[in-house]
Amino acid sequence: LEALNIRIEQDTSLPEARKYKVAKTYEAAGERVKVSGWIHRLRSGKNHVFVVLRDGSGYLQAVLTGDLALAHQTSTLTLESTVTLYGTISKLPEGKVAPGGVELLVDFYEIVALAPSGEDAFTNKIAEGADPSLLLDQRHLALRGETLSGVMKVRAAFLRSIRRFYDEEAILEVTPPCMVQTQVEGGSTLFKLGYYGEEAFLTQSSQLYLETCLASLGDVYCIQESFRAEKSHTRRHLSEYTHIEAELCFLNFDDLLGHLERLITKTIKYVLEDPVAGPLVKQLNPSFEAPTMPFMRLEYKDAITWLNEHDIKNEEGETFKFGDDIAEAAERKMTDTIGLPIFLTKFPVEIKSFYMKRCPDDERVTESVDVLMPNVGEITGGSMRIESTEELMAGFAREGISADPYYWFVDQRKYGSCPHGGYGIGTERILAWLCDRYTVRDCSLYPRFTGRCKP
Ligand code: 4AD
Repeated sequence: LEALNIRIEQDTSLPEARKYKVAKTYEAAGERVKVSGWIHRLRSGKNHVFVVLRDGSGYLQAVLTGDLALAHQTSTLTLESTVTLYGTISKLPEGKVAPGGVELLVDFYEIVALAPSGEDAFTNKIAEGADPSLLLDQRHLALRGETLSGVMKVRAAFLRSIRRFYDEEAILEVTPPCMVQTQVEGGSTLFKLGYYGEEAFLTQSSQLYLETCLASLGDVYCIQESFRAEKSHTRRHLSEYTHIEAELCFLNFDDLLGHLERLITKTIKYVLEDPVAGPLVKQLNPSFEAPTMPFMRLEYKDAITWLNEHDIKNEEGETFKFGDDIAEAAERKMTDTIGLPIFLTKFPVEIKSFYMKRCPDDERVTESVDVLMPNVGEITGGSMRIESTEELMAGFAREGISADPYYWFVDQRKYGSCPHGGYGIGTERILAWLCDRYTVRDCSLYPRFTGRCKP
């Protein structure tokens, strides 16, 4: 279009425009609206300029015609510039598609702020196919893309849905501390920090604190960041992740598995029913099928047999034997081959944490469970907990942990012990499964992993 020196002015004879968020305009056909946002797409036609406006709530197709399309000011618009558009919403005719099925015929607009063109243009910053590490440097801009922002919207719906599930099950939310002086999942992944001259750590798991809440608050859960100084640079490990943990009392191992099954199926159902997240999951993961109950239950010892029957080797490249850790690669091969959610249960005592309860019918193994999902592997780890002080002390001794800093945890066994169990869900892992992302990094707002702590 040839830019003309035309002043863009509002026609005061028009009805007053009502302020709207983009998503609300989908139901505002016939109304004159005022919408602010970022220019997500921009294209000039013969006598038209087409804009897709983005404000986080949705995308709105807008069209500038006549003088508005020809004005010099319009030729200065760039991607990611912020504008306020005024105009009338119309339903799109049959056969035409745009977000929400509507279009905004713009009659006036204001520039809030222009984004650069040329060398510094937005598209040069987050060029398609750029090196992942460059894209991570530009995460603050990359988040504006449809895929990443879509995953973040599904993430919000997922957290909302899981809170709804906990509410329905009368499980109370608590907020344990992140700065602690005890470990839960092994000393090798602790982040140490100086704490007024004392040694402290960033929490690996809120489990021990949740256990202390049972006697005062009953069943509890938390959604809290956990921190792991993972040496492994894998697509499913973060240094900081959002950990959903719950602790439930007066139940047995079967009850715990039943609860987990309900949690996963109901929460996923709620996400899929969500008007924003449901269609996003369809878009991100077209072949996704909601899991159904019951989940397959596979005991560790039978998994070892299965791995050997399928000629999958352990980390040393040897045949699996009882007591081996089933590491990421083997676990993934097994899960992907089976292609369904799996409850992998009853791991040997030696490869699990100090607090896990032994199976009454087989002392070599624990009442423990890993929930495995195709494409990601483990998304949840849980177990029944040791109830007796004596057995817990033996657990500490076996793992070479001094029991002293854990006096408050041990006291739960002393002052009215109870059968109880719980689990932790990796939010980014369950999202990687749900949204079909190659790595959990795509499911975290600003992912932290080895060598990455910015922006
Ligand atoms: O299996 P984990 O280590 O179990 C615990 O921390 C228990 N104390 C939880 C509990 O019973 N309350 O971790 C639980 C889950 C894993 O299944 C995985 O989904 C996730 O947390 N997770 C990670 N996610 C991303 N990056 C990491 N480095 C993770 N480590 C564990």
